[in-house]
Amino acid sequence: MEVVTTIEQVRKQVKSWRQSGYSIGLVPTMGFLHEGHQSLMAAAKKDNQKVIVTIFVNPIQFGPSEDLASYPRDLERDKIACEKMGVDLIFCPSASEMYTAHFNSYVDVNGLTDALCGKKRPGHFKGVCTVVAKLFNITQPNRAYFGQKDAQQLAVIKRMVKDLNFDIDIIGCPIVRESDGLAKSSRNSYLSPNERIAAICLYQAIELANLMIKQGERSVAIIDAAMHSVIAKQPLAKIDYIEFVDQQTLKSVELLEQDSLCALAVFIGKTRLIDNFIYQHQHS
Ligand code: PAF
Repeated sequence: MEVVTTIEQVRKQVKSWRQSGYSIGLVPTMGFLHEGHQSLMAAAKKDNQKVIVTIFVNPIQFGPSEDLASYPRDLERDKIACEKMGVDLIFCPSASEMYTAHFNSYVDVNGLTDALCGKKRPGHFKGVCTVVAKLFNITQPNRAYFGQKDAQQLAVIKRMVKDLNFDIDIIGCPIVRESDGLAKSSRNSYLSPNERIAAICLYQAIELANLMIKQGERSVAIIDAAMHSVIAKQPLAKIDYIEFVDQQTLKSVELLEQDSLCALAVFIGKTRLIDNFIYQHQHS
């Protein structure tokens, strides 16, 4: 496994792989890798002859009051995890390698980014799309892998790829959870022991919603109220949003009569966690 920090080094390697006819899978990450990332690497490994993992805490996707400085980092541990997963190349650039002086070009996907986390984190998806577009251009992959946990990110990137004609298949991979249901996330490392226990309430709300749906409930207002009351029981939790939206357009839905995404963001103490599930409509 090679670990490189410059765009030139990546381009050189990619060029030689392309000349040999190898397919390339890309797993873009911000590091502090966990089993969720490992599942993306495993999928990339299965589908492609070469796998590139990028590790870059992208400054332009963090708001001024967000956790850029404290975002967890452990490159040495990440290297070991990638090696174990059979990754071929890690690209871990500096911020100045990615954003040279006078950098001033951005990719902004409209519409989809006004909903859900986009409302709460202005500019976040512009930062994500810009860095992902750059990583696509640098690594020239056949396929790129993203977690379904960041459901809005996945929808926005799929839109960007379609709109800007990137010749790349975007593969969404299922959420990986802890044994008690908490979705794996690098930000879970911020949680104190008490907060970690409290954080289960996101999954409990999801479980309740799924049970209600199984029992035939289709009213978003009723399911949403039940989810709110599960989370409200947890004193350390503060709901940022719980929303049911159309999976493609991310527009709100009131009745579950089409495939829908239920996405939630909840503060546990100071840590903002996200989770979601997809309702698949059975046509009768
Ligand atoms: O999901 C993430 O870790 C980041 O948003 C991504 C896609 C690597 C872009 O910085």
